[in-house]
Amino acid sequence: MTAMKYRKTIIAGNWKMNKALAEAEALASEIKRELAEFREADVVLCPPFTALKAVGEVIGDTPIKLGAQNMHWESDGAYTGEISAAMLRDLYCHYVILGHSERRAYFRETDTIVNRKVKAALAANLVPIVCVGETLEEREGDETEAVVRRQVERSLQGLGGELGRVVVAYEPVWAIGTGKTATPEQAQDVHALIRSVLASLADDDTAGAMRIQYGGSVKPTNAADLFGQPDIDGGLIGGAALEARSFVDIVKAAK
Ligand code: 13P
Repeated sequence: MTAMKYRKTIIAGNWKMNKALAEAEALASEIKRELAEFREADVVLCPPFTALKAVGEVIGDTPIKLGAQNMHWESDGAYTGEISAAMLRDLYCHYVILGHSERRAYFRETDTIVNRKVKAALAANLVPIVCVGETLEEREGDETEAVVRRQVERSLQGLGGELGRVVVAYEPVWAIGTGKTATPEQAQDVHALIRSVLASLADDDTAGAMRIQYGGSVKPTNAADLFGQPDIDGGLIGGAALEARSFVDIVKAAK
């Protein structure tokens, strides 16, 4: 399954709770200037909700796509402060990040909740970027495989033929925002495990065509080595996505 890499690389910038409107527009404009003609990888910008419309207008009909960082699983109703999949579609979002470790840790999102969100996103024709990854304690306790397997199986259960549309992001929690990157070998091992779990949920062909991003302190200096691994199909970028130069350099490393 790892013999041939025929998946298109996908690089997404997760801006988290950064960039007010004017800053978001400026960052998107700079990225667009450099990447409007770039087609070697899929590029996705995920600004905060408040900047989705403006960033969408900046990137316009370039190949750069828009993504959100979260959504609710219900289509509408009395859920103060929440945003639905249809609202994201209204703003021309193509992608939505779901189950990020910060949402799991700070907002108590469980695999069951993530699974509901994934189903709602797919039903609305959004591509979910579903995040999984172990904490430092879990890695040191030799639980990485069990934790990641459980997160993938539970977050992606019951999707039937839709599973193939999902993008998975492996983000070891100990590597997020810490400057500690997983080595390409450490990341590759977990990516291969994730692909085998995907095969058990669907079949080898489906799993072989699905894209699995790595996230956690990706920088221009380590991107090419990570993306060169057989089962690593791109990156989910946090800190380095907040500056056009570093994000663009990471994207260009993906060729
Ligand atoms: P950093 O790139 O800042 O480590 O963040 C990774 C991340 O959480 C992307 O979703």
